Amino acid sequence: MLKGLSLHLEEWDRLQGEYEQLQETHRLYLQKLEEISQLQDKCSSSISIQHERLKEVHQMVKRCNTGASDEDAKILAQITGKIQTIPSAFVEMETFLPKKNGLYLRLILGNVNVTLLSKQAKLAYKDEYEKFKLYLTVLLLLLSVVCYFFVTYRVLDAILNFLLLWFYCTLTVRESILISNGSRIKGWWVFHHYISAFLSGVMLTWPDGSQYRTFRNQFLAYSFYQSFVQCLQCYYQSGCLYRLRSLGERHNLDLTVEGFQSWMWKGLTFLLPFIFFGHFWQFFNSLSLFKMARDPDCKEWQVLMCALCFLVLFMGNFFTTVAVVHQKFKNGNQRLKRL
Ligand code: COA
Repeated sequence: MLKGLSLHLEEWDRLQGEYEQLQETHRLYLQKLEEISQLQDKCSSSISIQHERLKEVHQMVKRCNTGASDEDAKILAQITGKIQTIPSAFVEMETFLPKKNGLYLRLILGNVNVTLLSKQAKLAYKDEYEKFKLYLTVLLLLLSVVCYFFVTYRVLDAILNFLLLWFYCTLTVRESILISNGSRIKGWWVFHHYISAFLSGVMLTWPDGSQYRTFRNQFLAYSFYQSFVQCLQCYYQSGCLYRLRSLGERHNLDLTVEGFQSWMWKGLTFLLPFIFFGHFWQFFNSLSLFKMARDPDCKEWQVLMCALCFLVLFMGNFFTTVAVVHQKFKNGNQRLKRL
């Protein structure tokens, strides 16, 4: 036998052994996947059957309520109470089960399953979303500073608007995936990103001219301010996420529910004045554009369209933020109930 060949043969035998082990592990993995998929189908169909049966029982209980004695009414009230809590448990279960994508995700991704199967994976995805938002926001902030102070060039403005358009479109996709995975992002924030994407598209098509140049600096300053507020928001949201994750890990005793609440309120008190100032800036942009649109020399349709978009953004953002803060005052923090 050639010198060194026995060594190679030994290595080859070891490799073959490991390869067989890998094949066995992979076979087991496929088997478990098959079992998981069967369990998922079973849970999904049980949930829809239970939904139907729950409705029937609810109707029956309602019918029995008329003419029931005090004792029976007590039992029926207990059953009704339990029936009312079950649908939210179904919603919680469904966040870990594959489901059909909504229209928007179907149009963009097709019917691929976007459900993440563990709490850690969901939190990691949300964490990545916040990081993506932060990095892009810093880039947008720098670009708006360059456009405002250093380079007055329509092409660079177009790059800024194109980046904004791409950023908001990407956010809407990521947010739809987050919602599929149980995130409680309010519908308005997603809709806000659709409108912002549309607004950036309109700004992109606005031809260079006297009207454009009148609004340009105001828009760039607003863009800079909005990116700055978004950085603060990202810091707040990442802080919430980090603390919620620590609260979820029961062994972490450094943080209490009260500790989370007090941090959240401190964060909000700091953040809200900046956010509300941003809303009024949106309103101011809208008023300035409406004023420009009334000028007989104004020929561009983009002026009126942007004015409308800013007005809708102002109203939606302002009223939703007020509603969110009001709800937080009333209910404590709903997000803690998920832990
Ligand atoms: N964009 C995307 N997601 C948002 C969001 C926003 N503006 N506001 C809240 N969310 C998400 C949260 O991350 C959370 O997600 P989760 O369920 O996956 O954990 C969920 O929605 C519920 O959050 P909630 O408890 O209602 O609010 P919060 O404490 O996280 O944030 C505010 C409250 C007021 C700070 C936040 O809603 C906000 O920043 N609003 C203003 C946005 C705005 O107007 N921007 C323009 C400024 S010029």
